[in-house]
Amino acid sequence: MEPKTYKRYTVTAALPYANGPKHLGHLAGAYIPADLYVRYTRLQKRDVVFVCGSDEHGTAIANQAMKEHTTPREIIDKYHELNKQSFEQMGISFDIYHRTSDPLHHETARDFFTNLNDKHIFVEKEEKQYYDEHAKAFLADRYIIGTCPNCGNENAYGDQCEKCGSSLSPEELINPRSTLSGNKPVLKPTKHWYLPLDKYEDWLKEWILKGHAKDWRATVYGQCKSWLDGGLHPRAVTRDLDWGIKVPVQGADGKVLYVWFDAPIGYISATKQWAIDNNKDWELYWKDEDTKLVHFIGKDNIVFHCIVFPVMLKVHGDFILPDNVPANEFMNLEGDKMSTSRGWSVEMHEYLEDLPGKIDELRYYLTAIAPETSDSEFTWKDYQARVNNELVAILGNFVNRVMILMHKFYDGKVQATTATINFTDENLSKEIGGFYDELQANFEGYKFRQAQQTMMEIARLGNRYLTEKEPWKTIKTDPDSAKDALHNCLILIGHLATCLQPFLPGTAKKIFGMLNLPNDQIFFDEEFVLANGHQLNTPSLLFEKIEDDLIARQVQKLIDKKAAIEGPAVVEEMPVAPAKENIIFDQFAAMDIRVGTILTAEKVAKTKKLMKLTIDTGIDQRTVVSGIAEHFEPEGIIGQQVSILVNLEPREIKGILSQGMILMAENAEGKLNFVSPVSWMPNGSGVR
Ligand code: MF3
Ligand code: ZN
Repeated sequence: MEPKTYKRYTVTAALPYANGPKHLGHLAGAYIPADLYVRYTRLQKRDVVFVCGSDEHGTAIANQAMKEHTTPREIIDKYHELNKQSFEQMGISFDIYHRTSDPLHHETARDFFTNLNDKHIFVEKEEKQYYDEHAKAFLADRYIIGTCPNCGNENAYGDQCEKCGSSLSPEELINPRSTLSGNKPVLKPTKHWYLPLDKYEDWLKEWILKGHAKDWRATVYGQCKSWLDGGLHPRAVTRDLDWGIKVPVQGADGKVLYVWFDAPIGYISATKQWAIDNNKDWELYWKDEDTKLVHFIGKDNIVFHCIVFPVMLKVHGDFILPDNVPANEFMNLEGDKMSTSRGWSVEMHEYLEDLPGKIDELRYYLTAIAPETSDSEFTWKDYQARVNNELVAILGNFVNRVMILMHKFYDGKVQATTATINFTDENLSKEIGGFYDELQANFEGYKFRQAQQTMMEIARLGNRYLTEKEPWKTIKTDPDSAKDALHNCLILIGHLATCLQPFLPGTAKKIFGMLNLPNDQIFFDEEFVLANGHQLNTPSLLFEKIEDDLIARQVQKLIDKKAAIEGPAVVEEMPVAPAKENIIFDQFAAMDIRVGTILTAEKVAKTKKLMKLTIDTGIDQRTVVSGIAEHFEPEGIIGQQVSILVNLEPREIKGILSQGMILMAENAEGKLNFVSPVSWMPNGSGVR
């Protein structure tokens, strides 16, 4: 079935909280897929606006400011800039990156609230809530901790006990404490405005369960269904807080709009600002039935984008509803959930600093493992393998081979025999035609992983074709056949670069540069002309191989980062082994401990714990087998200075003669760290 054609597109990506840097999981979850979709849409000259920006309100930011003895403004200004820049460098092509602290947004959100309030949509209720008299603030559920009535965990949250998993309400906690001040909070009555979601249950069931059973992702549809089956309840859209958008009602002092009420309206205010800047009519992008609205988000945002925000739009009237909400599942990192606060994450700005220029490599990898249907896993090893085995070995290799041969045989001048636009080989035409159809279907169905695979098929086809035609042989025996083969390859490269544009925009540009063609080729409806005699530019390599040590350093960095955060907190409660019996000085002096440097490291085969090290002790270079393999990556510790006991009787371990012992610090949990000089010392220096 031909999909409905739209006049224009409004594409949104979740507004990230401006309270910290965003990591690669966020990038893979919402921003890269949104960017792919938008670039694809633009390539067809369709009218699209791509909006995003910082989500700058909410209790989390207010409390973070309180804890860090700073102001919310300071925090949001810092991270708004950082995230905006990181997205830009990652090639996320927002038309606007707005912010919810902007006056235009405040006005838009206030008007939205007033519109609903005037229509008597809200239910006003007065209820008792915990209040911290010391911090002078009502406490969101998360900011109250106390003893769990079910399992006795003393640090259960007001909404949930993370030990036994039971969901709680703050009044159930025994001995509640405020996380802001540590004091016991008191119950105090307060009035709030509620959006009665329950009233719109039937409409939602009709719209989602009947209307979008086919076109929404199963994971998204499933979450909506379980919310709807469970029954909806009124949700408060106001909070007692002084950071945010003041509730525009008389006598509502000290109250602001709930952050999840104002944030999605941020999509609208961002569009308004973009329209002002670009002389457009924002209303067309939000109110015209011929506009397709698509929200790109992570799965934790589904209820807000599929249920709450649509109800807000619906009761307001005039607005269109999202046509699709292609939410992604989560991307884990090296076997664990990504989390900035636990230090188990790669932040966008860290990647940009550590692997400068490797943007397309990351875009490629994150799309290759996009968590479209289930959670996925980022590992540095896999990243390396994908770059080396796919980008370097397949894509880069094809383009490079053809370019080199063109320059070698024909001084880089196009040799068109019969056709300048089309293949001289009908099979190639057919195959390429098929790829475009597949690509289009995949993009329209939000299957970006598959789309990228299809794009790579063109490079695979190219390599196969080139190998089959062997122009390096036929150049002597049948020069016309060599010309045809390489010319067909050039046309393939043109198509490849065209299809590459959404995924790897930098690489596409480079290829168009080598082809000496303008770098904004359009999908489907135009073709490039490689006329006879057209001069190609000098080729350069598209991708470089990723070496082992780069990967090892990243893994080590991750381990260190987590340890730096979790380390001190754990140490306090850690049991300490009692002291051993006294020894005499001579016993100590008998030990010859030196500073050494690890020269090589490799895991000992068929063991989990053992690592074979070569150490420069200053005296000699020797082999030591050490039980550290579960804690360090071999490549990450090369060059590390250590303390080594050099006069320990040599011992054979797993068939390897180990000469000496590396000194390690070990805590009660078995976590290891090297004992080494604080700054560099010559190898062989004595340790006393
Ligand atoms: N700030 C939210 C988050 O990071 C997302 C807000 S999306 C919007 O989870 F719709 F509210 F803008
Ligand atoms: Zn519990």
